[in-house]
Amino acid sequence: MTKTAQPRRFEPSAALTGTLRIPGDKSISHRALMFGALAQGESTVRGLLEGEDVLATAAAMRAMGATITRDDDGTWRIKGVGSKGLQQPDAPLDMGNSGTSTRLLMGLVAGHPISASFTGDASLSGRPMGRVIDPLTDMGARIESAEGGRLPLTLHGANPAKPIAYRLPVASAQVKSAVLLAGLNTKGTTHVIEPVPTRDHTERMLRGFGADLEVSTDGDVRTISIHGPAVLQARHVEVPSDPSSAAFFLVAALLVPGSDLVVENVGLNPTRAGLIEVLQQMGGKIDKLDQREIGGEPVADLHVRHSALRGIDVDPAIAPSMIDEFPVLFVAAALAQGTTRTSGLDELRVKESDRLTAMAKALTLAGANVEEHEDGLVIHGSGGTPLPGTAGTPVTTHLDHRIAMSMAVAGLASKHGVEIDDTAPIRTSFPNFMKLLDEALA
Ligand code: S3P
Repeated sequence: MTKTAQPRRFEPSAALTGTLRIPGDKSISHRALMFGALAQGESTVRGLLEGEDVLATAAAMRAMGATITRDDDGTWRIKGVGSKGLQQPDAPLDMGNSGTSTRLLMGLVAGHPISASFTGDASLSGRPMGRVIDPLTDMGARIESAEGGRLPLTLHGANPAKPIAYRLPVASAQVKSAVLLAGLNTKGTTHVIEPVPTRDHTERMLRGFGADLEVSTDGDVRTISIHGPAVLQARHVEVPSDPSSAAFFLVAALLVPGSDLVVENVGLNPTRAGLIEVLQQMGGKIDKLDQREIGGEPVADLHVRHSALRGIDVDPAIAPSMIDEFPVLFVAAALAQGTTRTSGLDELRVKESDRLTAMAKALTLAGANVEEHEDGLVIHGSGGTPLPGTAGTPVTTHLDHRIAMSMAVAGLASKHGVEIDDTAPIRTSFPNFMKLLDEALA
């Protein structure tokens, strides 16, 4: 479905103040719906992200037999199909903009004796699916895809799937999860070997749903083993706020003078919290208040104040724990004192857009001093002087929600404002972004 573009201008802003609650974590929300839909019994979810990506997952799980409803108080109820109960969908599954829905559901379907077709928008249809097609083919699935391993594709599940030991060739939680989900309904033990740790919500939550799953570590290398076939039991899931969405407000408050903001209940799983560490290294004043655990995930309230940031060399080893936060980090770097160097970021070229090129062009248009390299950006910061802004030519977001929100933040910290060609994609991950921004500025 092509949506009408929603251009918008983000003007230099007043300080961000008060206390905000950001919507639920996108990665955890997808998994709660998927695992609830596979489990025996009725699961409930509080704090589910009601963004388009997650709603695409809900629609797909309904199409495969689960009953998913929302109570008036915001609690989601999922009646699962139980083990081996996944049904063949009647129509292609429309994944919209969502790579997570596509890759994880491909894994699920691969382990069941059903077929499903997957379609998506222009951004998703340009993204590589070969990284999941390869291991799922090894497990016995048959996949017919558009050229270059892209959507649209049709996947015929294996009957039965073969357990494999798969070493991830790219640091990707989506690929790891696809193989583990195919292994759920497979007799025997499926192993995923992860040379670089990536977000571990699948492992944590599958265990919570009762799957027999082990994780062993050897230095940085993790091996995740799932014993199939697994029978999942319904449970309750509390979803913390998404650190990747909180990131836009953290950086905005660091950059806009006078800001003093508390962002509540933010998920701080160590595989997701890299941005906070990097911003603190740059001199950002961010304090973690009331650190606690919710639903098996570490959480805190984050107190952030306007800060004079310094450029740094970002250690590429931290990249997987902040992979979605680089666009907004580049904005912070554009206003820091001195140079920020990033490297090892090849994966950013295959996200919802090529985020290295998209951010280099957008920030340059807004007046920042940016060098684009093959695997990262080098940004010479303004030392806190507001960026000039875009002067009439809008930045191009390429259907990428995070480019839109990052450049919105750049607009708040600019002299004359930043114009964005299309803010509609923000609904994929952060439907009330504008409302919360208005609240923080009120
Ligand atoms: C996600 C994993 C990451 C991330 C994406 C969500 C997940 O993708 O960029 O937004 O929920 O597993 P990759 O696995 O491609 O790194």
